[in-house]
Amino acid sequence: MSRIEIDPNDLILRLFHQWEKGWFVLAAGDYSAGRLNAMTVNWGSMGFMWGRPFVQIVVRPTRFTYRFTEEFDNFTLSAFPENYRKALDILGSKSGRDGDKIALAGLTPTASQHVSSPAFAEAELTLECRKIYSDDFDPARFLDPGIERNYSKNDYHRVYFGQILRICGEEKYLAA
Ligand SMILES: Cc1cc2nc3c(=O)[nH]c(=O)nc-3n(C[C@H](O)[C@H](O)[C@H](O)COP(=O)(O)O)c2cc1C
Repeated sequence: MSRIEIDPNDLILRLFHQWEKGWFVLAAGDYSAGRLNAMTVNWGSMGFMWGRPFVQIVVRPTRFTYRFTEEFDNFTLSAFPENYRKALDILGSKSGRDGDKIALAGLTPTASQHVSSPAFAEAELTLECRKIYSDDFDPARFLDPGIERNYSKNDYHRVYFGQILRICGEEKYLAA
């Protein structure tokens, strides 16, 4: 798959569609040491904050991935072609605690350029991010009581903001 460097200002992404329907794979760890994990995510955002382009993700503390997003100062977010839906289902339903679900999903971790967390050979878009902020959702601050229905086990997400250090993707993601 041929991929090019994309400046955040030139990124073309159907943002809401990608989050809600296309999903992303969040990966964190140290590729060169072989210590990493990945999971499917579809809650989050992207934007411009503190003068930097950012990705914002949320990770429940119960996820195996959580220990990697906590230990490492970086993460990657990758989008895949539609024919990898089965792979994303696996990463979003099995836990890295129980075995090598990345291999089971048929995905190949690769080295990133600016961060220790891996990219994937099969991804069509990868954003390399450095953590710049994290916090836990505080249920006392939910202004819509309906939000609480997402937390029957009180496993409130930790939210991370990652500064986008590099975007690499297929040409279709580059503004003409
Ligand atoms: C479409 C989809 C989106 C998901 N989004 C999130 C998310 O944003 N945050 C989260 O903590 N878990 C999310 N999950 C759940 C994790 O991907 C799932 O629990 C996974 O098995 C965790 O793997 P791990 O234990 O190896 O970290 C999502 C799952 C799916 C299928």
